[in-house]
Amino acid sequence: MLIRRKRGWELAESQATPEEIFRNRRRFMRTAGAGSLLLAGGGLLSACEDMDGANQASAAESDAFAQVADDPSYELYPLDRNSRYQAERDITERELAGTYTNFYEFGSSKNIWQKAQDMPIRPWSLRIEGEVEEPFDIDIDDLLARMPLEERIYRLRCVEAWSMVIPWSGFQLSHLLDLARPTSNARYIRFTTLEDSEVMPGQRAGWYPWPYIEGLTMEEAANELAFMGTGIYGAPLPKQNGAPLRLVVPWKYGFKSIKSVVSIAFTRERPVSFWEEIAGNEYGFWANVNPEVAHPRWSQAEERVIGSDEKVPTELYNGYGEYVAELYADMDQDERLYR
Ligand code: MTE
Repeated sequence: MLIRRKRGWELAESQATPEEIFRNRRRFMRTAGAGSLLLAGGGLLSACEDMDGANQASAAESDAFAQVADDPSYELYPLDRNSRYQAERDITERELAGTYTNFYEFGSSKNIWQKAQDMPIRPWSLRIEGEVEEPFDIDIDDLLARMPLEERIYRLRCVEAWSMVIPWSGFQLSHLLDLARPTSNARYIRFTTLEDSEVMPGQRAGWYPWPYIEGLTMEEAANELAFMGTGIYGAPLPKQNGAPLRLVVPWKYGFKSIKSVVSIAFTRERPVSFWEEIAGNEYGFWANVNPEVAHPRWSQAEERVIGSDEKVPTELYNGYGEYVAELYADMDQDERLYR
């Protein structure tokens, strides 16, 4: 059971809009430095064997957002919200989104945000390579200056059967495709996370196939929902949430939304992702959310809403079918589209 300890100073989830929280830097710092809730939980492979364990929570002081004020891109935020994307649920409390995270490079528990603070995020260069007219590297701040930045509220559904609603800042992935200029040979995109075992202790665990890799088809990447996150809650991304650049594909299970991306490669072959390599029968390439297709070890029919005691029915494509269903309409359903 989720232990929810609400303090007098905490904002209601529905009030946690960037405009209200982040306009004033000093007020932001005071909020970020105040106490919050830390949740301890199992990992991607173990959490749902022990769903009660993943539900356990303990209160702890946290300044999980403190470092974002030092981010060189801080003044770019908050961004105008794109009202086309409505979550139809309350926004998850910011402290929960920043302290209940999956980032295996820092360990398999949810509570890794302190360890992640050691990851250097400047300078940060993104490599564009593979089937492109000309490979190139681009500095993250140059990229931020060139992309049309906006805020979008999306639901996030983890394969572990929990969910959040996050106000993301960033840009539509299709704009990066335009910049990258892929050739007609490109059929897939392979995203790769930073590999640096000096600052990422989880990468010293040799049994994982580091670096973390994820992939999309070109059609998926060009879909209007596919988004590159550069911030949350009206401020730059905290490191534990995948600073300075991560993928956000809300119709797929959360493990597809790869964090701290250093390379985007356009390929002819379908990339094999990190979790697919570890347990391909449990975590496939497509991983589209579907309540009717159970994980081999647990049901996907419902999801636990982080920050409440609620369980709600899971929706096909996480409720984004109107945007993405046509991508899969003509596909062979034996392709394991939903796992
Ligand atoms: N990206 C990397 N590089 N490493 C990870 O362990 N975890 C994934 C995804 N991206 C992960 C990752 C999983 S399982 C989920 S549910 C989401 O990140 C969680 O994003 P959040 O921690 O910001 O909520």
